[in-house]
Amino acid sequence: MDIDIENAIREYGSPLFVILANTLRENVRLFREEFSSVYPKIEIAYSYKANSLLGLLRVLHKEGVWAEVASGFEYEIARLLGVPGGKIVFNGPYKRREELFRAVEDRALINVDHWKEIELLEEISSQAGRVIDIGVRVRINLGINSVDRFGFDLESGEAESVITRCVERKMLNVVGLHVHLTSYILEGDISKGSITARKIRLIWPKDHNLYRNALIKVVEFSNRLKERFGITLDYLDIGGGFPGIGEKLRDYVLAVSEPVLKGLREKLPTVILEPGRALVKNAMHLVATVVGIKQLGGGRIGVVVDAGINLLPTSLWSGQEVEALVENRGGGYEVILYGPLCLQTDIVAVTQLPELKAGDMLIVKNVGAYNFSQSTQFIFPRPAVLLVDDGKFEVIRRAETLEDLLVFEKL
Ligand SMILES: Cc1ncc(COP(=O)(O)O)c(C=O)c1O
Repeated sequence: MDIDIENAIREYGSPLFVILANTLRENVRLFREEFSSVYPKIEIAYSYKANSLLGLLRVLHKEGVWAEVASGFEYEIARLLGVPGGKIVFNGPYKRREELFRAVEDRALINVDHWKEIELLEEISSQAGRVIDIGVRVRINLGINSVDRFGFDLESGEAESVITRCVERKMLNVVGLHVHLTSYILEGDISKGSITARKIRLIWPKDHNLYRNALIKVVEFSNRLKERFGITLDYLDIGGGFPGIGEKLRDYVLAVSEPVLKGLREKLPTVILEPGRALVKNAMHLVATVVGIKQLGGGRIGVVVDAGINLLPTSLWSGQEVEALVENRGGGYEVILYGPLCLQTDIVAVTQLPELKAGDMLIVKNVGAYNFSQSTQFIFPRPAVLLVDDGKFEVIRRAETLEDLLVFEKL
């Protein structure tokens, strides 16, 4: 990291989140280059849910990235940042009537998730006295993610039924298809009574062939829409779930692009990509401090740090990557890295580290995706977030105080 960490901790306190603006920019540039080198028309709509800190979004939008939002709340954040409606992709299973109305007025790209949304949009069309452009989210069974529930099922004919209704009623004009194969694959026991979070295996990134298989089906479906209804799509939105830059992204680029380039019998649509994790994961780290060491049963060592799963909730699914900022302490041994919460599940990682003592600093690396956005002030308030840009620091979110958090409550 391009900063004097000890100084930063002295000034802003520990723990401390650090975002690297140059890494964000580099991620966008490389992601765009990879896809553009194979497919002529792409747009990147960053998935806000991965991390919606305003200072981070600002950097991404400056790079020409659109917004992918999954609620009216996220939609408002995008508008607040000056993203025009035409560069917002509005997804998610719960869009309120007034939110849809606003998105229609702004000419945002609305991907419809279920039948009630179709009804609402038809009402809005009548009210506004015009036909509304929509995208339809389709659900494809690829034998993964038994829990997938979003959009209209392709195989059963549900997706075609919804589009038939749009064509017949002439209130909604289908201009796009959306498919998101979920962020990762969950394998586990989801039977009644099982403790989901503890019985799940998280697979990420997904095999790129899943994208290829999905795209083949989506392209077949698009060809059918052209034949049956004369529909020419403006966009195919492929969703997110992509690996980080350099992690064989090329395989994914080809898996997405080739079926469209080879199979589509109409003018090429814009391919919209909705990466979250791929753009932000490696651009944010958390600096933490050791607060104590514990000898545990069976000769195991526990290290307690000042940052726990309230700040790093993804630790519940998979351990974090940790580096100790200490020199000349010799070889390491396996430790259990505990957070400060008085909670059995507060385990950040089980990992190999050099001998540590209270006051030592650690970096929990690559925590930019789905941590801050899902963090809570459970037992401890959230610390400050620093943006480092070309060696300059900016606090883009100050540490929370008791007063901040009590503002919502009445004594
Ligand atoms: C519709 C949609 N698009 C994009 C994403 C981003 O996924 P990822 O962060 O894995 O790229 C998600 C995440 O679940 C999503 O639900």
